[in-house]
Amino acid sequence: MPLLIQNGTIVTAERQYVADIYIEDETITSIGTHLEVPEGTPTIDASGKYVFPGFIDPHVHIHLPFMGTFAKDTHATGSQAALVGGTTTYIEMLAPGGSEKLKDGWNTWTGMAAGQSACDYTFHIGVTRWDDETETTLRELAAGGMKSFKVFLAYKGAFGIDDAALYKTLALAKELGVIVTAHCENAELVAQLQQKLLSEGKTGPEWHEPSRPESVEAEGTAHFATFLEMTGAKGYVVHLSNAQALQVALEAKARGVDISIEGVAPHFLLDCSLTERPDGANFVMSPPLREKSNQAALWKALEDGQIDTVGTDHCPFDLKQKAMGQDNFTLIPNGIPAIEDRVNLMYTYGVSRGGLSLSRFVDALSTKPAQLFGLYPRKGAVEVGSDADLVVYDPGHRGHISAASSHMNTDYSAFEGWEIDGRPEVVTVRGQVAVQGGQFVGEPGRGQLLRR
Ligand code: URP
Ligand code: ZN
Ligand code: ZN
Ligand code: ZN
Repeated sequence: MPLLIQNGTIVTAERQYVADIYIEDETITSIGTHLEVPEGTPTIDASGKYVFPGFIDPHVHIHLPFMGTFAKDTHATGSQAALVGGTTTYIEMLAPGGSEKLKDGWNTWTGMAAGQSACDYTFHIGVTRWDDETETTLRELAAGGMKSFKVFLAYKGAFGIDDAALYKTLALAKELGVIVTAHCENAELVAQLQQKLLSEGKTGPEWHEPSRPESVEAEGTAHFATFLEMTGAKGYVVHLSNAQALQVALEAKARGVDISIEGVAPHFLLDCSLTERPDGANFVMSPPLREKSNQAALWKALEDGQIDTVGTDHCPFDLKQKAMGQDNFTLIPNGIPAIEDRVNLMYTYGVSRGGLSLSRFVDALSTKPAQLFGLYPRKGAVEVGSDADLVVYDPGHRGHISAASSHMNTDYSAFEGWEIDGRPEVVTVRGQVAVQGGQFVGEPGRGQLLRR
């Protein structure tokens, strides 16, 4: 079914202009003013609204066995929440346990998503151990279009890998032309500091941040950058949380290391004082929420394009799961749910109430992730020939975030009560309307696995 989106202000990473967009067979087939279209074409009036390319979340966890439990979304719930929030493509971290074969992990993760997601999706392939099977599978997956890997320098004894595995992964990535994303915290320092704090009787969620301080993340970032430098591989630091680590990444960039930087919504907006509340466990993620003073540096770097992308690190656990670490902060499942809220939060506190330009907003939340991860210009663009993944955004909407109205499969929101200055009014996935008036009206299971 063709579709016309009329009179919206189209916003791309480069410019803004008012025009109509005509969609046929899942793609954009013309853009212009006063387009002639067949009589009876379904039409969406976007006057006074923005039309953005569908947003891409480059960092989510949907299926995740982690810290003795599982993250709570399914691809059905996670994708519908994503769409209501304006995200039309997400990249999930495929993270097999260190004792699981990568091929088995691939089968598990793709099996969970197939026929379930309402939006398009793809994977960063997690390298959680190194052996012949891993190398063979990575070569096969890269040849099949899975053009990004993921490594964890943190999580000793779980997803974390040692330096030999890191070096081999990066050398292979360089050979294959694959980008490697990395969680950068020094695992051994975290393990030692956790034990020290616990032995001093410091067991509450407020000790999570001191167990992995800013310098531990800065060290992890420097460590990754050095390995990138030695191998010539292309790297991407995920969820960079603080000014010190930012400085390290920017210095590496300045000396020619091919390194990109991701920020995630929680670090721009929430700070570690929240972990002192009675419900402090709900605000535990890694790297941790930091002192508020870091946020100005993150926003400035985002505005200037030094932080390349903004994801969520969506990782939903419910209150019962969070309570698993009541008496020991090292047992709190790490993660904050945010897939539904990223676009509205970054629009409200970045564009509407801050210094983030609309173009940089679109770039960081859509175009740049598409470019870095091989999806552009199929995704991340409003161009003839691009997939018709579009967000008609109403900047006149006023509302609040609440767990009660959320589509994510959890029972709390870290952003409960936060005001929002806009929302996706209509969202299309490859030409089909998936959200109307802020409600999911799409086709469950229509999402495709994107090969890049
Ligand atoms: O706390 C977090 N970030 N949980 C998800 C796993 C990860 O490190 O991204
Ligand atoms: Zn991580
Ligand atoms: Zn190091
Ligand atoms: Zn993550």
